[in-house]
Amino acid sequence: MKLENLYKSKLLSADEAVSKINPGDNIVFGTGCAEPVMLLHALVKNRERYKSLHLYSMLPRSDGEYVQEGMEKYFHYNSLFVSKGVRDAVNSGRADYIPCFFHEMPRLFKEGYIPLDVSLIQVSKPDNHGFCSFGISNDFVKPATECAKIVIAEVNENMPRVLGDSFIHISDIDYIVRNDHPVAEMAPSKIGDVEKKIGEYCASLIEDGSTLQLGIGAIPDAVLSFLKNKKDLGIHSEMISDGIVDLVESGVITNKKKTLKPGKIVVTFLMGTQKLYDFVNDNAMIESDSVDYVNDPLIIMKNYKMVCINSCVEVDLMGQITAESVGLKQISGVGGQVDFMRGASRAKDGKSIIAIPSTAKKGTISKIVPFLSEGAGVTTSRNDVHYVVTEYGIADLRGKSLKERARELINIAHPKFRDELIGEFEKRFNSSYYDKRFFLGKKGDGEKTRAK
Ligand code: COA
Repeated sequence: MKLENLYKSKLLSADEAVSKINPGDNIVFGTGCAEPVMLLHALVKNRERYKSLHLYSMLPRSDGEYVQEGMEKYFHYNSLFVSKGVRDAVNSGRADYIPCFFHEMPRLFKEGYIPLDVSLIQVSKPDNHGFCSFGISNDFVKPATECAKIVIAEVNENMPRVLGDSFIHISDIDYIVRNDHPVAEMAPSKIGDVEKKIGEYCASLIEDGSTLQLGIGAIPDAVLSFLKNKKDLGIHSEMISDGIVDLVESGVITNKKKTLKPGKIVVTFLMGTQKLYDFVNDNAMIESDSVDYVNDPLIIMKNYKMVCINSCVEVDLMGQITAESVGLKQISGVGGQVDFMRGASRAKDGKSIIAIPSTAKKGTISKIVPFLSEGAGVTTSRNDVHYVVTEYGIADLRGKSLKERARELINIAHPKFRDELIGEFEKRFNSSYYDKRFFLGKKGDGEKTRAK
């Protein structure tokens, strides 16, 4: 059959397409701004038809109808990452969280831990050869889709055609729904003075020729704003957002010095505004691959001078990180943090950085704490963290003893919480925080270090 006819033969309305889904099915759907909104809306609209559907996704959008109160009767939503939109649902028991390293998510589907019936995706329009790009969500969605019995795609001509191992042929799509809406956007975060200071400290750790991974949010955006004078930076990152566009256009990001895939920005998903989507569309500089490749620490480590910058909820005085929870309350997920912290630590001349404001909740809580809150999930072990950065400076943990780590971290805590942390230090180590022996050959005297 001619491609055009094949395409037409699969066209359905969203309501017709979701009628192909059976009660009890396991369904995966696209990530973040690539959520197939029309299909999900149709699922919710037709919910009485299904007794119980099992939904799996990552970074659900905040307005997800399928997790609103009352929907748990119809949908059992399992989030592979707890973003703001599903926090309440997960913590109140209406939805659930599956902890898993991002790079291992495809194995959950490929190896049958989560047998998949249906994949709901949003892809670009087909090219002349019938290939649709997974666009801004390749990640685990492409490999998962390859395991699904039924594939239903929203074909959106506004979805950028992102190159790489990022395509599905229309012959592998069972039903097509046309979507003419603009692709959902994520606005850049507001950068305040604290984030600026953190960005400046992080930028001081980035050498020319480094390859970077940066997460989502104000801190990564602030870091990018301090890189204008760097040379030949490269990107190998699970995600990118608007911040990188200006640095490519001004010639700071060239990818020339990358030791893996020189010349390419390697990513697995994207979220940003139309500015980013226009930039990545059909751009041969962009290579989107699935997350089992991009986030595999053994792949990441092939980038010399790999620098990863991630954030967290709490760090204890040993350098243990939770990026996911406050005690038992799930705030977020592991995502790709450990993948990159591991990969960057193993890379030649690599650096793994945790960057955080020193306080949370409008300055009322220290993010540097004696102990992670009881019940916290440890995201990154103390062995994988090279640096912790706050607006008060840089704690360099690599090769440091427990006492030295605690000092480094107390020195970058917010001053109003330092006395409390020093009290814990003295109790824990049975020694004075100001003992000059701990600074021998290094920083001189304790008072000076404390005043940093
Ligand atoms: N105690 C209590 N609450 C805390 C807290 C603490 N120590 N630290 C943060 N919070 C709360 C904030 O108040 C906020 O709550 P709100 O949304 O109700 O206002 C929430 O947790 C998120 O914190 P915020 O500072 O807004 O987060 P962020 O946008 O800077 O992101 C992480 C920080 C840790 C949530 C985020 O980096 C993440 O999800 N990391 C894990 C995944 C990862 O690193 N992936 C790799 C890169 S994409």
